[in-house]
Amino acid sequence: MASRCIILICLSLSAVNGVFLELDQDVSIPKGWKHLERLSVNEDIMLTFVLKQQNLDILKEIFYDVSDPDSVNYGKYMSLEQIGVLIQPSAETQKVVQQWLQNHNIANCSSVITKDFVQCIMPVRVAEELLPGAEFHRYTNGHVSIIRSPSLYTVHSDLAKHLDFVSGPHRFPSEKMALKYYESKWKAANWQFHLGVTPSIVRKRYNLTASDVASFENSSQAVSQFLEQYFHPADLAEFMKLFGGGFEHRSQVDRIVGTQGSGKAGLEASLDVEYIMSTGANISTWIFSTPGRHESQEPFLEWMLLLNNMSSIPLVQSISYGDYEDSLSVAYMERISTEFMKAGVRGVTILFSSGDDGAGCKHVSKDVNVFSPQFPASSPYVTTVGGTSFKNPFKITYEVTDYISGGGFSNVFPMPDYQVQAVKSYLSTTKKLPPQTYYNISGRAYPDVAALSDNYWIVVNRVPMPWVSGTSASTPVFAGILALINDRRFTKGLPSLGFLNPRLYKLQQQKNDALFDVTEGCHLACIDDQVQGQGFCAAPAWDPVTGWGTPNYPGLLEALGNDK
Ligand SMILES: *[C@@H]1O[C@H](CO)[C@@H](O)[C@H](O)[C@H]1NC(C)=O
Ligand SMILES: *[C@@H]1O[C@H](CO)[C@@H](O)[C@H](O)[C@H]1NC(C)=O
Ligand SMILES: *[C@@H]1O[C@H](CO)[C@@H](O)[C@H](O)[C@H]1NC(C)=O
Ligand SMILES: *[C@@H]1O[C@H](CO)[C@@H](O)[C@H](O)[C@H]1NC(C)=O
Ligand SMILES: *[C@@H]1O[C@H](CO)[C@@H](O)[C@H](O)[C@H]1NC(C)=O
Ligand SMILES: *[C@@H]1O[C@H](CO)[C@@H](O)[C@H](O)[C@H]1NC(C)=O
Repeated sequence: MASRCIILICLSLSAVNGVFLELDQDVSIPKGWKHLERLSVNEDIMLTFVLKQQNLDILKEIFYDVSDPDSVNYGKYMSLEQIGVLIQPSAETQKVVQQWLQNHNIANCSSVITKDFVQCIMPVRVAEELLPGAEFHRYTNGHVSIIRSPSLYTVHSDLAKHLDFVSGPHRFPSEKMALKYYESKWKAANWQFHLGVTPSIVRKRYNLTASDVASFENSSQAVSQFLEQYFHPADLAEFMKLFGGGFEHRSQVDRIVGTQGSGKAGLEASLDVEYIMSTGANISTWIFSTPGRHESQEPFLEWMLLLNNMSSIPLVQSISYGDYEDSLSVAYMERISTEFMKAGVRGVTILFSSGDDGAGCKHVSKDVNVFSPQFPASSPYVTTVGGTSFKNPFKITYEVTDYISGGGFSNVFPMPDYQVQAVKSYLSTTKKLPPQTYYNISGRAYPDVAALSDNYWIVVNRVPMPWVSGTSASTPVFAGILALINDRRFTKGLPSLGFLNPRLYKLQQQKNDALFDVTEGCHLACIDDQVQGQGFCAAPAWDPVTGWGTPNYPGLLEALGNDK
């Protein structure tokens, strides 16, 4: 009797002692993924422990200080090692986590320069002891298999204050950014002549002349590829042979960081690298590749780990990846945003695509819908790129909204100071706004800028392919242009642009010709009685569809190529 009591007390104590680090994380199995099996206890899995950092208020202050063109500290960036000294977890945090892992005989671990991530391999039995509540299962989408837990994990309360979250149990890799290839449109269109977007058309529209190519050997830029996206060097070479006429460019990637699979080339990977190297011409280009080396990895987090663990990385990063905010825990989004700040403090410019479903739509209850913002597009610490099309698809004309262009207001991140004036002005001067119940005007509004996102030609698996569309296309185009501006700055001995937004929004308060304002067209949203498929509309100056607009290279260089 007594022993049973003791067992009961033990059970209830362990329940009380467990703390959910991500109570708000969506653990449902997304459409397209099928359950295969529960893992046997001896199978190895990988978990990443995301340790609590210190001095984050100071980090944020520095971040805004070095990004503010009016500050004496503009461009005075820090090295990863210096950032590590500032924010690395306290000695206590490091010790408690280490002890915890040791107590469970977990020895196969590696850390990063900044000591704020620890990644370990352990048998499922140990992982399930470590994270009560988690239960590891295997799922497949027909192409790859991954390991996730359909129930939330907890950690012992002694650990809770030392960890932001644990990566491995949750979040299915996003497939939202998988590019759209309009095959049916292609087949149905019985057109003899089709313009389509090629490097020469992008360069012409954005006023890049043959001499607007990089000349400084240390200039660099990078694209990232995630799940199942492989890049084939022969595709890039073929692309440049077909479309690279008229400007000096490179036809080879200098470095692939991470692991490259050997499957068929992905549309996304081909597009990103082919176009960043067309605007960011003659610039050393890297690819960060995180296809999910281990079934329990989160490819996006893996990318953050790579960035965090390399002293020297390309100073412009183009990333086409995103998920709905409401499918992610706040702990996760906040920590990832801190990582973006760390990159900004290093002088790295990070660009994210704004997503391809306009304002998005989430069904709340019968007849009640709201817009659905995407993360990392909604992070205040990155520059988000929307999409446009030519007014006349057969000519190089002015641009209008591409109706897929992602945009809106975050429900998680408050509006940063740098954009308050611009967003207020949009909200107060725009006549036909969607009902305010659909979005949150106190949140970070995006995108910040835009570029063409419709009807691109790419080469994939050696075959030229038209009709590739999405903000995945506009993001590397804009990124390459910023890398080129960095190049011009370097030749003058100036630092990289770093986090662009404070300077961008300040710049746009004055008259200039740095960007082409996009003022026509609306993006898509909920198909219901109230909004009838329409979200926000483009307008003069900033708008939550195309941001401030698309790049006019000579004007942008004039505005960003010099400092005071
Ligand atoms: C750690 O795990 C990796 C991947 O499973 C394995 O290759 C390696 O041998 C392990 N190292 C040790 C010391 O167990
Ligand atoms: C970070 O880099 C070091 C040195 O290259 C390496 O030993 C370590 O395994 C890396 N950490 C992770 C988490 O990959
Ligand atoms: C750039 O392009 C636009 C439109 O194509 C044109 O109006 C403008 O004059 C061009 N040149 C410069 C230097 O901005
Ligand atoms: C291309 O870049 C290299 C340095 O990386 C430079 O030597 C060369 O002059 C550049 N080409 C042009 C046309 O500027
Ligand atoms: C270019 O990069 C190399 C390697 O990081 C460095 O040693 C060199 O000083 C850099 N050159 C300039 C001019 O910044
Ligand atoms: C609106 O955004 C703020 C952050 O700016 C957030 O605190 C609040 O919860 C959001 N409201 C809703 C209904 O999501």
